Amino acid sequence: MITDERIADYIRSLDRGNGPFLDRIERDARREEVPIIRKETSALLKTLVAAGRPKRILEVGTAVGYSALLMCQAMPEDCHITTIEKFPPRIAAAREHFREAGEEGRITLLEGDAEEFLRTLKGPFDFVFMDAAKGQYIHWLPMILELMPVGGILLSDNVLQDGDIIQSRFAVERRDRTIHKRMREYLRALTGNDRLQTSVLPVGDGAAVSVKIR
Ligand SMILES: C[S@@+](CC[C@H](N)C(=O)[O-])C[C@H]1O[C@@H](n2cnc3c(N)ncnc32)[C@H](O)[C@@H]1O
Repeated sequence: MITDERIADYIRSLDRGNGPFLDRIERDARREEVPIIRKETSALLKTLVAAGRPKRILEVGTAVGYSALLMCQAMPEDCHITTIEKFPPRIAAAREHFREAGEEGRITLLEGDAEEFLRTLKGPFDFVFMDAAKGQYIHWLPMILELMPVGGILLSDNVLQDGDIIQSRFAVERRDRTIHKRMREYLRALTGNDRLQTSVLPVGDGAAVSVKIR
């Protein structure tokens, strides 16, 4: 928890849900410990999509399709989402959810490792939601930037790891230490890149909003 617990609870109490179908997917995912977007970050995601009015969205990390379907609620009718997932059971669940939601036509699910697709995908994607292997964000950033037009928005989730990225290196497991180090590098790469305007927000377990300005 990055923000005060009471403030976080209060903000959550304002949440009116996302309709019975998505609320059910969310409940099932949380029960089955599928790592889906947090409530506070969901609202940020939908708000940014609504503000940006993208034509093409790229999502890295589909899981069971929850965040893709959230974006469908906020994006323009003629917008298309391309989303990437490599874990077969989640791919099957996401396909089923897209079908049940009647959104198969607006979502393309690419099955396999994101890095392979990022090398070959053709842009432009005017909104990118980065939500997969946290340690890889730093490696994927140059490819993502090539796929975005000027004015494009990149939302990167989990960037503060619940605040753990500023923990002493002795207080965290070796694997986490590597992820935290890479995440700090990623945040430096975002904030130090003069093609980007970035704001790092203590929302959920940390979110970075970047706009490509040149
Ligand atoms: C945090 S979850 C995505 C949650 C989803 N965006 C949501 O909020 O509903 C991250 C997902 O990325 C997938 N993933 C991790 N590394 C990946 C990679 N290299 N290529 C494709 N998918 C990957 C994982 O299998 C996992 O399902």
